Amino acid sequence: MKRIILTMVSCTVIILTGLANSAEVDNETGLIIAEYWETVRDNCTECHSAKLVTAQRGTLKTWTDIIRWMQATQGMEKLDVKTEDRILQYLASNYTPKSRGRRAPIPPLLMPPKPYPNEAKE
Ligand code: HEC
Repeated sequence: MKRIILTMVSCTVIILTGLANSAEVDNETGLIIAEYWETVRDNCTECHSAKLVTAQRGTLKTWTDIIRWMQATQGMEKLDVKTEDRILQYLASNYTPKSRGRRAPIPPLLMPPKPYPNEAKE
């Protein structure tokens, strides 16, 4: 009995610590509430869900490339310099490669053997 109570108390503590440590997110979009989050909400959710943004992680370069890609191929308008800087600052500091996102790709060594030969580079 003592053990069960101890386990329950530990679980509660672990869960509460987890909640306290996790960043506050906006209920509607799921975006982390930090400086300039509204700029991202206003500019990045008109074509697709904010989930596409929050599922992604990247460095400043990755985020810049994603925006350039959408501008070049998905009809995204050019952003004014100040807005773009704010968006990139928000993304590169709140959605960094280190923060939790999609799982990392499976290393080639752990992949099943290829069923056919191809020229693609690993
Ligand atoms: C003009 C429309 C438009 C706007 C505005 C827009 N996007 Fe996108 N974005 C797209 C389209 C279209 C896709 C591809 C969706 C798909 O694959 O289903 C996409 C995909 C993405 C992806 C996924 C890329 C990948 O490799 O999977 C991310 C991340 C993203 N957008 C972030 C943003 C951010 C950040 C902003 C704001 C700066 C933004 N988007 C604003 C159209 C837009």
